[in-house]
Amino acid sequence: MPEQNKPAPSQRIVGAAPAGARDEAAAADAVRDMFTSIAPRYDLLNHVLSMNIDRVWWKRTARLFSEVLRRPNAQALDLCCGTGDMTFALHRRLKGAPTKLIGADFSHAMLVRAERKAGNRDIRWVEADALNLPFASGQFQLVTSAFGFRNLANYDRGLAEIYRVLAPNGEVGILDFGEPQGLIGKLYRVYFRRVLPAIGTMISGVSGPYAYLPASVLRFPSPDEMLQRMRAAGFRQVSWTPYTFGIAGLYRGKKAATSCNPE
Ligand SMILES: C[S@@+](CC[C@H](N)C(=O)[O-])C[C@H]1O[C@@H](n2cnc3c(N)ncnc32)[C@H](O)[C@@H]1O
Repeated sequence: MPEQNKPAPSQRIVGAAPAGARDEAAAADAVRDMFTSIAPRYDLLNHVLSMNIDRVWWKRTARLFSEVLRRPNAQALDLCCGTGDMTFALHRRLKGAPTKLIGADFSHAMLVRAERKAGNRDIRWVEADALNLPFASGQFQLVTSAFGFRNLANYDRGLAEIYRVLAPNGEVGILDFGEPQGLIGKLYRVYFRRVLPAIGTMISGVSGPYAYLPASVLRFPSPDEMLQRMRAAGFRQVSWTPYTFGIAGLYRGKKAATSCNPE
């Protein structure tokens, strides 16, 4: 398509597109099937493939939201919670505050594991699609998502849903993979595109998800584009903070104190 006819980034529909998926519904089904197929080995694979750096990223993210988490009558939502590790990091920051914490994911198999791991922690687990959340508008002071947002079939709809369920003054934190630059970036790309899919396939016994992972990171908008999409969704004070040379990074934004929905 000639450059001048291309829609502006904020007008293009952009989202995850696993191989073979022809539309958003097929993409979402493929993503759910993929995570359900690796659920039994997900934690093991995560820790092996990230060399446990993921724990540092979850912890760092949760720490940044300590104040929001402890607001009076706060409710917090960890979206695309998978087996719950980001949710547990948030829970540790509550330090006794009576905040209601919810973990939501559309893969039942992942949620079953999250619930089992939670033990007696007071967390509610909800099976829900991030693109059509079963929560009231303005319900949450905080919405986080760790390594899940990139898998949504429509990023703008995902942002719009997060914005809708946030209360005025509420905050969002989206932690996801990035593309580091320079020499580190070159080395990392070899690891991410060749070594990681090979080990992931070997341990999980399923090849699709670990070929999809690097492809999904490549498809994901650059930090500049993501920040523009967040602004278009209505978020204020948006920022991106790289973690570990930009291998991952945290997008943050706020909903205005008196807010009308951007549409
Ligand atoms: C890579 S895992 C991340 C899990 C966890 N947050 C973590 O940091 O380990 C991505 C999760 O996003 C979930 N997910 C993807 N698309 C979703 C959607 N549209 N609605 C709800 N969950 C979704 C998947 O089922 C999967 O559990």
